[in-house]
Amino acid sequence: EFKPLVFSGVQPTGNLHLGNYLGAIQRFVALQDSHDCLYCVVDMHAITVWQDPADLKRQIREVTAAFIASGIDPTKHIVFNQSQVSGHAELAWVFNCVARLGWLNRMTQFKEKAGKDRENASVGLYAYPSLMAADILLYRATHVPVGEDQKQHLELTRDIAQKFNNDFGPSIAANGLGEAFFPLPEPLIGGPAARVMSLRDGAKKMSKSDPSDLSRINLTDDADLIASKIRKAKTDPEPLPSEAEGLKGRPEAENLVGIYAALGAVPKEEVLTQFGGGQFSTFKAALVDLAVAKLGPIGAEMQRLVAEPDHIDAILRDGAARARVLADATMANVRDIVGF
Ligand code: ADP
Ligand code: NA
Repeated sequence: EFKPLVFSGVQPTGNLHLGNYLGAIQRFVALQDSHDCLYCVVDMHAITVWQDPADLKRQIREVTAAFIASGIDPTKHIVFNQSQVSGHAELAWVFNCVARLGWLNRMTQFKEKAGKDRENASVGLYAYPSLMAADILLYRATHVPVGEDQKQHLELTRDIAQKFNNDFGPSIAANGLGEAFFPLPEPLIGGPAARVMSLRDGAKKMSKSDPSDLSRINLTDDADLIASKIRKAKTDPEPLPSEAEGLKGRPEAENLVGIYAALGAVPKEEVLTQFGGGQFSTFKAALVDLAVAKLGPIGAEMQRLVAEPDHIDAILRDGAARARVLADATMANVRDIVGF
């Protein structure tokens, strides 16, 4: 039976948060019945900014644990870390030679992450999007579930695939590989939590690197911490509206309603039908209950799994071995196409 191929990744950079869960991991879980999936701990992306080696090793296991604890089945799908499959780096180099400087110059994430001291950013941070294109296209994946912040990188992936197919068109045909070698992968972005915002500032996305721990709910937070962060979450003085229209211009309220909808797998409208007209305190209490019920078991299972590093390492080794088979097949074709 044919199932479309999904690829996605999460960086092992610490502080896995509710945005990563709702924007990515929870959706990875939901795709498992209808798709063949590769879920990757993208450690080579992580080192585009400095990572302490001992922390990196621990965080690779922690992201793997989050995948498994959330319900990803590593026997039916492939869970692995990027650095263990050399094809990612090899294909990224080819793509560095396909992508144009002007394309990368437009990437807003580089500008945000490099900040003012751009001269001092790593070359890897700049070239990050061609490695991401390689991650996806190494498996010729067609569907990529990501948060809204990755939209521009996905568009670049499609541009790279298209330019490769065009530039090497005659060689692809001469090698008997059809007309287009790489598919143009589709982003799967959406739902009520495609962009989870900071709990302290409705204008900023929830992020691993926000210095305020109150800005995010971490997957390893216990029930008390989850409760206190939600109670302290910024809101405005108005009661909740009864219709989605009424959330316009109220980013903090919209964010909390979106989080409730995504955690409870219900439309935002339904959340507002239930809580509209009421006080925030009532809604927040219900959100605490829901968040604790949903995230509590995941956090506990993550703690249990990270206490068994050998077991996690075995899952990653097995996943890498299976990924390598697919990657090697693509790279053999790519070498023929390029003329190596
Ligand atoms: P981060 O952006 O937190 O550093 P990653 O780059 O590893 O983490 O992102 C992993 C996945 O989580 C990506 O699909 C990304 O789009 C998604 N993601 C990250 N932050 C958020 C957010 N605030 N809301 C929704 N999705 C998010
Ligand atoms: Na990101």
